[in-house]
Amino acid sequence: MGYMHLGYEPRNDVVCEFYFEHASGVSAKIAAENIAAESSIGTWVDVPGTKKQLGAKVFSIKNNIVKIAYPLDLFEPGNVPQLLSSVAGNVFGMKILKNLRLNDISFPKKYIRSFKGPNIGLNDLRKMTGIKKRPLIGTIYKPKLGLSPGEMEKLAYKVYSNGIDYTKDDENLGSMRFNKFEDRVIKVLNVVDEIKSEQGRQVVYAANITASTDEMLRRAEFVKDHGGKCIMIDILTAGWSGLQTIRNQNFKMIIHAHRASHGAFTHNPKHGISMKVIAKLSRLVGVTGLHTGAVVGKMKGDEREIVEIDNFLRSEWYGLKKTIPIASGGVYPGLIPKIIKILGNDIIINCGGGLWGHSMGAEAGAKAMRQAVDATMEGISLKEYAKDHGELKLAIKQWGC
Ligand code: 3PG
Ligand code: MG
Repeated sequence: MGYMHLGYEPRNDVVCEFYFEHASGVSAKIAAENIAAESSIGTWVDVPGTKKQLGAKVFSIKNNIVKIAYPLDLFEPGNVPQLLSSVAGNVFGMKILKNLRLNDISFPKKYIRSFKGPNIGLNDLRKMTGIKKRPLIGTIYKPKLGLSPGEMEKLAYKVYSNGIDYTKDDENLGSMRFNKFEDRVIKVLNVVDEIKSEQGRQVVYAANITASTDEMLRRAEFVKDHGGKCIMIDILTAGWSGLQTIRNQNFKMIIHAHRASHGAFTHNPKHGISMKVIAKLSRLVGVTGLHTGAVVGKMKGDEREIVEIDNFLRSEWYGLKKTIPIASGGVYPGLIPKIIKILGNDIIINCGGGLWGHSMGAEAGAKAMRQAVDATMEGISLKEYAKDHGELKLAIKQWGC
């Protein structure tokens, strides 16, 4: 087929690393060549007119890992769907493969610079909120569905006035009969303004705009028109095209990226697309914050991988602004020291049930979260700090630490 170039050294190429298992009766070499062909310019048989110089190059095969270099000309600048239709397209369904997983992807500078990256990055978020060092403390309104806008308004006041910096809708909250998008945006943003005049703090509300792309645009504009600073998108269920369309508007609002559904691609170590790839694409397109896992808590996630992803999001990357990792899922005050120790303090820590479920109510839940973060930043153990912080003491009694 002509796609085998073992020993080739990629320079100006997009490079993909795949885990693969070939079907019986097929050699690893044939399988690897077919991955390279189908994900670049080829098909199952050689056809006339094929421009071999545009073909992908298999440059390494070792222990079920194949590395493939793709000439940059194969990719339209600034187009994630087109990229994925190549390197993560037909190849996932080919009969000659038992399993295939896109573990990692890297891009040349020119391709990276064809994307916008975050409009509002980690440093802008810190500047906006005035929170210099500690993690931002967030919560997700719970119960996840069923609250009315009026109920959310009251809950917003309770948690913001007791130390919470950031609240967000849950991933499956759209515009339902019991909670219309516009009503809750107006009500929660009123509380955001109230907190500003009472405490002088700029708190954030991430309104979930996930819907069809035209509707997302309308909702984002609505948030902007009402003075909102943040929109939330379920980036995988809404899709890369929807996310890119929103980012390309330069709304100058925080884009909070929820990764609902990622487990369908990321969970199987032998098949699918890794979270690392999703994180790279998210920063390329330009999200301000991305759910990457909390290591501890209720969601699956390998510690080494989450740390690597979080460090990537916060690293220098050809001038693109930084994305802030969001640790979320089954978090409660007793876990804060572990989360900060593992993931650092440049994160948003989100706590839903572990705040709203506090035995003394939401105000105490908010205070307990803030106390846990303050104690950790001061280097004091939670048990010690809890001696004169009753809300934290109760949270520890309830869930441990
Ligand atoms: C999320 O969207 O990350 C979850 O709603 C977290 O909720 P929990 O803190 O109750 O697990
Ligand atoms: Mg949720």
